[in-house]
This record gives sequence, C-alpha cells and structure tokens, in this order.
Amino acid sequence: MPLLRLTLLTDLMPQETKIEMETKFYKITDAENQQKEIDEIAALLKSGEAVAIPTETVYGIAADCFNENAVAKIFEAKGRPSDNPLIVHISDIEQIYTLVKEVPEKALRLMEKYWPGPLTVILPKKDSVPDKVSGGLSTVAVRMPSHPAAKAIIDAAGVPLAAPSANISGFPSPTSVTYVKDDMNGRLPAIVDGGDCDIGIESTVITLAENPPVLLRPGAVTLEQLREVLGNVSVHSAVLNPLENGKEAASPGMKYKHYSPTADLTVFKGSKDEFVEFIKKYPSFTDHAMCFEGEEKDIPLPCVTFGKENDPFSQAKRLFDALRELDGMGAKKVLVRSPSEEGVGLGICNRLYRAAGFSSISSREGIIIGITGGSGSGKSEICSRMREKGCVIIDADEIAKGITKKGSSVLGKLADAFGHDIINEDGELNRRLLASRAFRDFESKRLIDSITHPEIVEICKKTALEETNKGKCVIIDAPLLFTSGLYSICNKTVKVYAPENIRIERLLARDGITREEILLRFSKQTEEEKASEAADVIINNYPPYKLEEEISKII
Ligand code: TXA
Ligand code: MG
Repeated sequence: MPLLRLTLLTDLMPQETKIEMETKFYKITDAENQQKEIDEIAALLKSGEAVAIPTETVYGIAADCFNENAVAKIFEAKGRPSDNPLIVHISDIEQIYTLVKEVPEKALRLMEKYWPGPLTVILPKKDSVPDKVSGGLSTVAVRMPSHPAAKAIIDAAGVPLAAPSANISGFPSPTSVTYVKDDMNGRLPAIVDGGDCDIGIESTVITLAENPPVLLRPGAVTLEQLREVLGNVSVHSAVLNPLENGKEAASPGMKYKHYSPTADLTVFKGSKDEFVEFIKKYPSFTDHAMCFEGEEKDIPLPCVTFGKENDPFSQAKRLFDALRELDGMGAKKVLVRSPSEEGVGLGICNRLYRAAGFSSISSREGIIIGITGGSGSGKSEICSRMREKGCVIIDADEIAKGITKKGSSVLGKLADAFGHDIINEDGELNRRLLASRAFRDFESKRLIDSITHPEIVEICKKTALEETNKGKCVIIDAPLLFTSGLYSICNKTVKVYAPENIRIERLLARDGITREEILLRFSKQTEEEKASEAADVIINNYPPYKLEEEISKII
C-alpha cells in the first residue's frame, strides 16, 4: 500500500522539535549496588526531566506522570502525536491507587499473576492523572515492570513514571541501548543502559474498563493466559487487521503507523519452501528477506533472521533489531516469513503486519499488480506483454462500461445526478452527453466518480481475488488506480510513463482527436498523475525503447 505508507510516514515524522543537549549515559548492571547512580537518575526525574530507562520489554522514556511539563518533554523527544496516551509505570502495588478510581477484582487477579511483568492494564483514571498522560481519555494504562533497574529507578523517584517506548514515533521500539542512542542522543539529558531487553516486544495491553475485557495489544503475556485468569476476553479487530475506515481507535496507538523500518515490508504467509519458490518466481518483488534462523542458506537474497520458527520468544527478542538491521543494509523491498499467530506469536504478527501496513501475500494465492498511466502512456502495450507472460488482465475501463448498461442501478443514479436525457430512447447511456456534463467542472467530476468508483472497485476486487485464488498473477489495468483506492488491494503498483509530447503524438495518430481535446483530457488526469508518483515501479515507455528490461521490473 505505497500511498498510505507515504502519507502516514510523513504525518509521523518528528516535527521541528530537535532538541540539542548533552546526553549523560549511565550503565546499571547491578541496581541494588549502584544506589549512587540510581539516585542521580531519580534526581533528574524528580526535577522534571525525561530519561530513557530499560525495561524487560523495550526501552522507555520516563518522566514523573503527575508533572505535565515533564510529560511534555517525552512527547517532544519522540515527536509523538499528543492524543496517543502513555503507560504509567509503578514499582509497588500501592501506587496504582494513586492513578485509578478503583481496582476491580479482575484487575487484582491479573496483577497478582503477572506483575511485575510485561502486562499493562487499562482502568478508569483518577482526576489527578493529567490529560497529557491519558491523551484526553478517561482511562489510564498502568504496568509494573520487572527489570531491576526500572524498579530501582521508580522506587527512588518516588512517583509513578509515564513511559512510552524510547524510539522516535513510528520507528521500531529499541531493545538495546545502541538503538536508544540512535534515536535519542541529544534529545534527552540521560540514557540508562540496562543491557539488552529480555522480551523484545512491548507489553500486552488489556482494557478492563470494558466488559468483557478487550485485548488491545498482544505481547508476552498471551491471550490464552489472559483467558485462563479472566474467562472471556475479546480481541480488538485492529490487532490483526487495518483499522476500519471511520472507526474510532480503542487505543489511539492503533491508528498510527508503527514499528516501521524505512524499507517497504510485505508479509508472506506460507512454508519456507513456498517462500523460496516465490522469491525465485518473482525476482523483482523483493531485494531482502527476513526469515527464521537456518533458512537463510536456501534464500538467494541478503537475509536477516528473527529467531527460530517454533520459538516465538526468540522471534520477539530479535524482531525490532531485525527491522532496524534491514535499514542498515539498505533494504528497499523486504519479504518477511510470517510466524504462527499462536501464543506470543500473536504479538509478533501484530507488530509485523503493522510494520508492513498490512500488506501480505499468501502462498496459496497469486499476486495482484496494479498498473496506471495517463492517456497515451502506452499502458495497454505493457498489459498485453504481461498477458503474454501468463498474467490475467482486468481492464477497469471495460468494467466501467459494463456497469452503466441499460437498466443498471448505476445508470439510474447517473441519470438522477446528470439529467434523465443522458439515457437514449433504447435505454442505453449516451456517453458523449454524460461526458460533456460530468467533465465540465471539478464538482461534477467528483460526483460521477462517487457514483461509479465504488462499483468498479468492488468488481475489480472480486474478479482479482477469484483469479489469485487460482494462483494466477493478476494485472489490474486502471487509469485511476490510486484515486479510486484500488491500489490498496495490490501487492505492487506500477506507473507507465512517457513524456507529454510523445503521448500527444501517439493520441493524435491513434484517436483522431485534436490537440486541444487531448490537453483537456490530460487536465482531467492530474490528480491521478500526482498520486501515482507513489507507485512501486515506474516503467519508461518511450524511445529508445528498452521494454523487455523495463517489464522485468514488474515481476
Ligand atoms: O512494554 C511497554 O509497554 C513499553 C515499555 C517502555 O514499558 N511501553 C510502551 O509504551 O510500549 P507506548 O507508549 O509505546 O505504547 C502504549 C500503547 C499505545 O498503543 C497507546 O495507544 C496505548 O498503549 N494506551 C495507553 N493508554 C491507553 C488508554 N488509556 N486507552 C487505550 N490505549 C492506551
Ligand atoms: Mg511505542
């Protein structure tokens, strides 16, 4: 989903908040015997500073949760959207009573079993917890970390500490101090090195402010374990699916892109052999692979590994490091072997799918490639060559014609919007008359698109999925691939490009229309033209032609 990725990433780029300061480093290997350092760190926190600290899950940026100015420094350092609430960390059960209105029996049972540890519970908050911490929500997230340095620091600070993960917003959470340094050096007065994090993915987040409780973020405390203690626990649909359009995020973190390396990730669901077969069959699809230990010798690409196939704890420990390593290797397009969704695997899948913007390929299905390009770019030529290579072509223009047939509901809607005289006496659409009305201004163009696009998209999707289910490589030939939203079902998007003068020459020769008519046609395509710059591949279709070479970029 290239377009989506782009817009979300720019949204998340830290704003102009780069704070330059001297960062002091502390190394805590034995918290009990390093009271002097612990007291120094606690003094910084008490004076209203934000400090990076280790926890057993990932590193966090901690600040006094009751001090709004201190909490503001966390958001500043991370470039984090202000409506995304923070988890408050405590070191003593009693502290939870300073944060929440009451601790229900269900919460007590969970706390008893899994605290200290990688579990966060959400409960209705007390008024004394600042809105900055809860992102304006009426609830607060609380967790008691088990890392000895985290515990000692909270004890010494004497207050609960609000702490999100210590990465720049949108990037993978840091599991070692090196990565904290990469993101936060110069942005915080102190970074505490407590060694590599044992777990490697963030805590499980469950809300008990609802009945039944809802799992919002899977982690090392598994769904199965939560159900053992609580009975019924539902799983928020956004755990494994993109947040539905217009649906409110139960946990504001759900609506933001996360854990993302710069590379474009696609999750592959299938066995190792199918993974290798796919990489060989579609060489231009991917330049780096992410796989389980021991598989790299069979994969004809540079690889990073993330743990053992049957050991989700080993995957959790490696996951974010692997994502960061891919960036270091200059990876652009990465195919990742999907782990099982069982147990801790659910947490790994959640992070991976989100890092991939939910783009996935299944071994049982074929792939969908979307092709766009302005009039005269030579899109049809490219599509017919792909047909020769065995791909199935879905022509969105043909579908558009099909849905406005005599008696169709779309034709009725068009007549209501643009006048009933656009229907000829024989009941068929007068395309010319419709075009003259629909393209006269921007508003009318919007209107016709809103009537026709949903149906075209629906039919394209249905046909594409039927064909991919047979294992076919499907090409959707759509002049409005991006503006119609069709790109979102594609595994790859392609823009066919030719300079304007060449396109004009081709159209003059082919369509027998005037230069003015051509320019008018172009002017209606500017929105798609702009959006399609986000395509994964640009195919240059103009002299001197190197079409074979260009086409090999597609699969
Ligand atoms: O393991 C962890 O939990 C790490 C370490 C540092 O403790 N912390 C962490 O924090 O991952 P953060 O801020 O990166 O993630 C907190 C998540 C976000 O998705 C946020 O939206 C959600 O918890 N959250 C926090 N308070 C919430 C609330 N009141 N209601 C719903 N979701 C909430
Ligand atoms: Mg985070």
